[in-house]
Amino acid sequence: MRLNSLVLRNFRNYADCEIEFPDRVNLVVGKNAQGKTNLLEAIHFIGTSKSHRTFLDDELIKHDGDWFYLRACITDSSDVDGMTVEVSKELRGNKKFKLNGTAIPKVSAWIGRFQVVFFAPESLSLVKGSPVGRRRFLDTLISQIDRSYLRRLQNYQVALKQRNRLLKQIRSNYAEKNLLEPWDGLLAENGVSITKTRFSVIQSLKIHACRKHENLSDSCERLDIVYHPSVGEVVEASSDDAIRQFLVKLESARSADYMRGTTSVGPHRDDFDLMIQGQEGSAYYEAKSYCSQGQQRTIAVALKLAELEVFREHHGSNPVVMLDDVLSELDSMRSKMLLELLERLSVQTFITTTEIDMWSSPHYKDCHIIRVQDGEIL
Ligand SMILES: Nc1ncnc2c1ncn2[C@@H]1O[C@H](COP(=O)(O)OP(=O)(O)O)[C@@H](O)[C@H]1O
Ligand SMILES: [Mg+2]
Repeated sequence: MRLNSLVLRNFRNYADCEIEFPDRVNLVVGKNAQGKTNLLEAIHFIGTSKSHRTFLDDELIKHDGDWFYLRACITDSSDVDGMTVEVSKELRGNKKFKLNGTAIPKVSAWIGRFQVVFFAPESLSLVKGSPVGRRRFLDTLISQIDRSYLRRLQNYQVALKQRNRLLKQIRSNYAEKNLLEPWDGLLAENGVSITKTRFSVIQSLKIHACRKHENLSDSCERLDIVYHPSVGEVVEASSDDAIRQFLVKLESARSADYMRGTTSVGPHRDDFDLMIQGQEGSAYYEAKSYCSQGQQRTIAVALKLAELEVFREHHGSNPVVMLDDVLSELDSMRSKMLLELLERLSVQTFITTTEIDMWSSPHYKDCHIIRVQDGEIL
């Protein structure tokens, strides 16, 4: 993947700005709060239709404005002509995507065409944070490699919302219990498929993450990823059996669900554990609770690199990689390894930095420098 140019209008602190990216490595340089992360956020939004830091798309609209607009020219190894994608959103309106001038009726039809991997200091929350962040990581990744996954996820979320609403109505005696059945069926059918896909992607992630982790950690530690599907072990089961198992779980959680007014079983409650083994033969322990900040950072980088590898495996091409304030957080050995890897793979990279000095080495003389100040490119 290659992003050739980008237009931002009324996006965060950018009023109107057009940028070309002639080189593979792009250094986004500027003082704090000038718009470096905002620029990367725009690129991420084009690829995933989501911000990496907020669920509220209206926050992306420039203060006092009532819409934003982005346009990107992208080439993919498989189409030499390239494509132009436009994204726009009005305040409280739906986001709209256009590909080569034609409206894309469903955003899900676009996701996966322009793949991005985003490293940020917040990536550490993959290790330290709540399950929400880990599910978001999985969903963003899988949606970009498997279009039907995104559709099933959306169906699941609609069914979940309806079921939760109904549970509350039943609790207050406004609705009959048998109305739940169709929603249970939809949850189970989509939920099983989501669970099975997550399992298989986690298997590939695990293989790559372990290898990357081994390279990055100077000790002989080993990483393992253990998936905990909320519906239990359905991976070996046929889909029909797994759906039955899901329905049984929903059934047995029903009285508790009525009380709470929410659904307690399903992929929206999934999580995976990151486990570390200190020495060969010794027990694995949970990275979240036992690892130092430095070890956790290494695990987060290994996971992100594994994400990159999974993309390469599926698409046969590189995603665009963004490193936002990441290098200042890694020690010099790890930053060097990371940059060398991206160099070796020939990945288009966007790196933010406040310090240009560390980049003055001849090694980076070919990178394109983008100076950002107060929402403008100098
Ligand atoms: N919707 C918005 N409209 C206008 N300015 C915004 C908006 N959202 C964030 N900003 C401004 O963008 C700046 C932060 O930009 P950011 O890209 O995060 O900085 P950095 O260069 O440190 O990465 C802040 O000054 C913030 O006030
Ligand atoms: Mg920033």
